[in-house]
Amino acid sequence: MSPNLEKFVDRLPLAEKIRPVREEGGIAYYEVTMEEFWQKLHRDLRPTRLWGYNRSFPGPLFDVPHGKKIRVKWTNHLPQRHFLPMDTTILDEMGTDFPEVRTVVHLHGGETEPDSDGYPEAWFTRDFNKTGPDFKKEVYEYTNSQRPATLWYHDHAIGITRLNVYAGLAGMYIIRDPKEKAFHLPSGKYEIPLLLTDRTFNNDGSLFYPRQPQNPGPETPDPSVVPFFLGDTILVNGKVWPYLEVEPRKYRFRIVNASNTRAYRLYLDSGQAFYQIGTDGGLLRRPVQVENLALEPAERADLILDFSEYAGQTILLKNDLGPNADPADQTGDVMQFRVVLPVAGEDTSRIPRSLSSIPVPSSHNVSAIRHLKLTGATDSYGRPLLLLDKKRWMDPVTETPRLGTTEIWSLANTTAFTHPIHIHLIQFQILDRRPFDLDLYNETGQIVYTGPATPPEPNERGFKDTVAAPGGQITRVMMRFSPYAGDYVWHCHILEHEDYDMMRPFQVIDPDLPASDGPLLD
Ligand code: C2O
Ligand code: CU
Ligand code: CU
Repeated sequence: MSPNLEKFVDRLPLAEKIRPVREEGGIAYYEVTMEEFWQKLHRDLRPTRLWGYNRSFPGPLFDVPHGKKIRVKWTNHLPQRHFLPMDTTILDEMGTDFPEVRTVVHLHGGETEPDSDGYPEAWFTRDFNKTGPDFKKEVYEYTNSQRPATLWYHDHAIGITRLNVYAGLAGMYIIRDPKEKAFHLPSGKYEIPLLLTDRTFNNDGSLFYPRQPQNPGPETPDPSVVPFFLGDTILVNGKVWPYLEVEPRKYRFRIVNASNTRAYRLYLDSGQAFYQIGTDGGLLRRPVQVENLALEPAERADLILDFSEYAGQTILLKNDLGPNADPADQTGDVMQFRVVLPVAGEDTSRIPRSLSSIPVPSSHNVSAIRHLKLTGATDSYGRPLLLLDKKRWMDPVTETPRLGTTEIWSLANTTAFTHPIHIHLIQFQILDRRPFDLDLYNETGQIVYTGPATPPEPNERGFKDTVAAPGGQITRVMMRFSPYAGDYVWHCHILEHEDYDMMRPFQVIDPDLPASDGPLLD
């Protein structure tokens, strides 16, 4: 679909660090504006129309110290109409007519109070002309008091998140631990954030996105196919198949999969392993060697890559497409490392043996186990939808954990494919995954296990906010709901699933406050 684009001709761009516009009583205050702009994404492509934060794609990099609160004013200065085709039927279904482009920003992985979390109905249109039913305030606050981690921010407006993020509304956010210096991890110019996305281009350089999200995406989608979108071109930090010149030494890469639907299985063609040091929720207990790094949408990996043995060589970061890949599929290539720079002094960085203390999950204090199902359904247009526990977005809240309590959520995926499930506010720990008889379930609703429970992969044994829940398996996660009460959401992070109704509200209840309308769990 995209024109033929030569690989590895553009240098990898590095996102610019954002600076506060002022301090307010010791609190850094930032301003970010969403605007339409044109950016060159490949040497041979005409500049592409994008929507981004502060006129850049990805958006500016937040790099903030742990424990230091910041404020951000997110302003919408986008055109009132989308430049990507909008499927209004789904909005109809949700009972929201769609006059104008709406936006709301979510800090993914952030332990954020509800009014700053970017609730999907807390949207606002250009210049705050109109605001959604749950809109609370213009300036968001991030306390950065959670575990230091690699987060990212992106649009979360109800029903059009897939389009807004695809248009470019995504950026990275690092909560930095000053104490981490003692580890001597690669830092400064040797620490590089990588934001992975896939896109498809029209010949004129503009973004292609189908009217209804089903590839190849003509006007008449196949009603038996669930919504998804896979671009045929891979971009890193907003450049198509870029290259990076490196020194023969260790580097740290913080990777986020910011693609709408695409999951990656990353490896290096040199055969060398990655040393994974962190996940969604910060550092692991100890580094884990991985040859194949699976990253579902919204998952992050903090990696160390050692180029010291590869001086003069070129190494490709590849994406394993599996044995049945179409030979024409170009998305098996991600980017190129050229180990051509002279060593600037000795590499004194290290890969520490132990990184962080992660508690062993114990079901000791669990106050509730919720059995939740990931299912398919059909909407009134006869189109497939995906649902969480068979409920639509508009149905009343059913998940109401009490503030400060620990719960296990048992996610039974009754579909045939993996859904990356994300829960706001908290970081969870993965307990296990266990296969069950999918056919039997789909006929009778009965769950019969067909195999033993497997513990999470070694590189998943840290804190996570997004988990791969494979089809035909029950994936269990455990978390403590704190430190805020209020309205949040959980959803599949395949954005086409999220928009086609695989998202649900949940409400953290503070028992010391007067009762709200959500039912309490007993
Ligand atoms: Cu990254 Cu609710 O989202
Ligand atoms: Cu999130
Ligand atoms: Cu999904």
